Amino acid sequence: MATSPSSDRGAWSGKLGFVLAAAGSAIGLGNIWRFPYMAAEGGGGIFVLVYLGCVLAIGIPVLFAELSIGRATERNPVGAFKKLVPGTWWSAVGGMGVLAGFAILAFYSVIAGWTVGYLWMAITGTFGPDVDAAASAEIFSGLIGSAGPAITLTVLFLGVTAVVVRGGVAGGIEKASKILMPVLLSVLVLLLIRAVTLPGAGAGLEYLLRPDMSELTPKVFITALGQALFSMSLGMGAMITYGSYFPKDASLPFAGTAVALADMGIALLAGLVIFPALFSAGMDPQGGPGLVFVVLPTVFANMPMGHLFGVLFFACLSIAALTSTISLLEVVVAYFVDEKGWSRPKAALIISLACFVLAVPSALSQGANAWLTDFGWLDVQNIIWGNYGLSIGALLICIFVGWKWGTDKMLQYVEMGGNPVPGRAMFAFVVRYVCPVAIGAVLAFLIITREYF
Ligand code: TRP
Repeated sequence: MATSPSSDRGAWSGKLGFVLAAAGSAIGLGNIWRFPYMAAEGGGGIFVLVYLGCVLAIGIPVLFAELSIGRATERNPVGAFKKLVPGTWWSAVGGMGVLAGFAILAFYSVIAGWTVGYLWMAITGTFGPDVDAAASAEIFSGLIGSAGPAITLTVLFLGVTAVVVRGGVAGGIEKASKILMPVLLSVLVLLLIRAVTLPGAGAGLEYLLRPDMSELTPKVFITALGQALFSMSLGMGAMITYGSYFPKDASLPFAGTAVALADMGIALLAGLVIFPALFSAGMDPQGGPGLVFVVLPTVFANMPMGHLFGVLFFACLSIAALTSTISLLEVVVAYFVDEKGWSRPKAALIISLACFVLAVPSALSQGANAWLTDFGWLDVQNIIWGNYGLSIGALLICIFVGWKWGTDKMLQYVEMGGNPVPGRAMFAFVVRYVCPVAIGAVLAFLIITREYF
């Protein structure tokens, strides 16, 4: 049953509230943990180049497509499609999004748990000046490889997420983002200065900034596309949900663009910290989910007040992760509240418990359980849902807006509240043709070449 939006759905306090909350959703482990890890798997500079192309040509159009659907319907992803095209299978696209959000939350909260573990270790002084690459790798596998801490931290993180989501969107999410995003940015800038001045840092900059065309494979495209979508929280309806809380009289084009650029900037910044530090410490850029966690302590070990920076950094990262897990859980909760008539507290509790069950194999796949570790369960989840799920979701959203709902409608809701969109015709063309063809081509190529991972 679809209920009409009412005041207890909540709304952002205004444009700034939206920008902070949407940037809070977008900026998270995707930028700081996933971006460097995917960049290392995708060959460095060539990955960054394709990623930037994906953000501009696909990410930003899909962002506005999702926000306009949300604004037009004031619904969760399933309800939104039901309202725009009742009685069609399009609501299944929303349903897939809700499912993807749930699955992403299940592995994301495991990594988020690690950041809390790292915060704790930073506070207690684990990352002293004698931490080199090997010692850091040992600390990392010690934390994530034992079932107890890995599962406890996941529970803790999901629990806090559930408590915030239970309280509704406006209060907690906005307030936390307002303070912590600027702090995170400042800490990253200071770490950047330290990282690029480490001996041997130049090789890292070169790795990240000089594309090696011979590394361009179909895999780079899916990895970069998936990363752009994951980082901007696209392809599963989170931005439909967030757009649904956007005030009708506020102007969207600038707000949306600001979110996209902030997200991209933080990812690049993280890369510029990690790779110079990694090369300086004499490590190999081989990727894997541990990349950031192993590299960063070697930076803290090498800087004045490293202890303080370690604490600040992991505190900010934990909160950045929290504002993202909130948005993932919020989509699923909004669906059960709007469509199934559940109360917010009931939805938050039941869904986070179910999510925990799915998170356990991810938590155990980093050494605690041999079979799950060999299988690379967490990696596989990340790639299936993050790269493939979101790409397919974004493809369907573009087809919907471009060919079913209409780009005129999209532009009407993007422009509602002021600020015309520059280059309307080109924007429409990109959503109708460029995005679907580009995403479709990447998926088709992978099927042909069978180079899925
Ligand atoms: N974008 C977040 C990050 O970069 C993760 C995230 C939050 C997300 N909500 C999402 C990813 C929805 C995909 C879809 O950390």
